Amino acid sequence: VVQLIKLGGSVLTDKDGPASVRNDVLDRLAREIATSPEPVVVVHGAGSFGHPLARQAKLAAGLVGPKSAQAAATVHASVRRLNLQVLDALRRAGLSPVTFSPLGSFLCSDGLPGHWNLIPLHRGIELGLTPVTHGDLVLDTARGLTVLSGDQIMIEMARFFSPTRVVFVIDQDGVLSAPPGHAEAELLVEPTLLEVERAQAFSDGTENDATGGMANKLAAARAMVKRGVEVDFVNGLIAGRVSEALSGATTGTRLTPEART
Ligand code: IPE
Repeated sequence: VVQLIKLGGSVLTDKDGPASVRNDVLDRLAREIATSPEPVVVVHGAGSFGHPLARQAKLAAGLVGPKSAQAAATVHASVRRLNLQVLDALRRAGLSPVTFSPLGSFLCSDGLPGHWNLIPLHRGIELGLTPVTHGDLVLDTARGLTVLSGDQIMIEMARFFSPTRVVFVIDQDGVLSAPPGHAEAELLVEPTLLEVERAQAFSDGTENDATGGMANKLAAARAMVKRGVEVDFVNGLIAGRVSEALSGATTGTRLTPEART
């Protein structure tokens, strides 16, 4: 039995600024993950280590110009730098994290992830390792390259691991009923899938993001709930929320398979 956690890039980094990690947040999240009663698979986003450059070079569309390959290599190196910092924080927290790189494992077709052999991750968990992976550039049969978000990776992971719980760590208290800052925006605590669909519609295209932002996350969450997995959205900027979610408490938005309609 495992739990899957996605550390959003907007929590780990300041998404609008230059590539730098919020070290105190990362260290605290690592310690909270280490309290999980079950093994955890960690997926992290790219934040300011990936999105600004990926957008600028239009990498989600593929190899579109003579400089795309170089831009792709630059983004990949940058995401790997963030990944190393995540590994260091998890090790400081007492875990034994190892990275499974999406670029070396996934072949997408027109943006859709193909098969990824996750048996090595499973074996790693049995040995006491904590598998870590991240949003990344990946090879694509139609586009040459594309940007694969950590949220899409979560869907693949959930399919393979049938986790007891999936936790999306974000920079707000959970899923809101209207855009943040809107007068009617309130936290959806245990929304129906219809309410989540509405939240997804207003999230579309509202963020500075190469992979679809909150809308993408909500689409991923709906896909998982439909297959019977419980999905939590919690605020990673507030101490204790992640450890509480991993121990089963509701601390933000919880999508349950029972509340499907
Ligand atoms: C994006 O991954 C990967 C790149 C931009 C290379 P995510 O979509 O999972 O990242 P965050 O969580 O939104 O930052």
